[in-house]
Amino acid sequence: PPLIVTIDGVAASGKSSVSSGVARALGVPYLSSGLLYRAATLLGLEAGADLSEAAVLEALHTHPVRLEPLAQGNRVWQGERDLTADLHSTAVDHGVSVVAVLPGVREWVNAQLREVAPPFVAEGRDMGTAVFPQAPAKFYLTASPRVRAGRRAQERPEDVDAIEAALIRRDELDRVQSAPAPDAVVIDTGPLDLAGVIGAILERVVA
Ligand code: C5P
Repeated sequence: PPLIVTIDGVAASGKSSVSSGVARALGVPYLSSGLLYRAATLLGLEAGADLSEAAVLEALHTHPVRLEPLAQGNRVWQGERDLTADLHSTAVDHGVSVVAVLPGVREWVNAQLREVAPPFVAEGRDMGTAVFPQAPAKFYLTASPRVRAGRRAQERPEDVDAIEAALIRRDELDRVQSAPAPDAVVIDTGPLDLAGVIGAILERVVA
């Protein structure tokens, strides 16, 4: 069967950069499930309602959203509107874990991902467990909260302690869907740079 590689891990563990690098090396697309959860959250926030399941699903139904899985970086579209630049705001960071526990939202994300024909790299929290359990190559990225906050501080106009506190809170809220698959290779990205993590994965996929 065509190859599916899953790359799961905690928040800010470098999953999207790593997935993009692995996908480009393999010449396949990657799918960012987190961006779909973020898009659901943005639409829910814009609808102005509470982030209830009914309100979020209604927003997704009224304004259908589509993932464009480019290897160099995924984009999310709502018709002609490119949502991508709005998906990493602090408001979305704070709301997304609340939206991500809603079963109807998880079904919506999973259905979008399963429509894509392999080969691809799929990135998120539960790609190797819930969504693509049949994948032959599974990875799980970790790093200490401090290391992750330090990396994020270079992308966010916020202080590193505030980022670290928010990451620890998000890890806790995401804990249920973030368990590594029993057959995943766990990689601590702390001592590695981006090329090192990509190399460690490719070594096992291409072997
Ligand atoms: O990967 P990223 O940090 O962008 O994901 C944003 C949020 O989406 C996570 O904090 C989590 O709440 C949710 N998520 C999830 N399952 C996935 C991917 C993301 O619950 N497979």
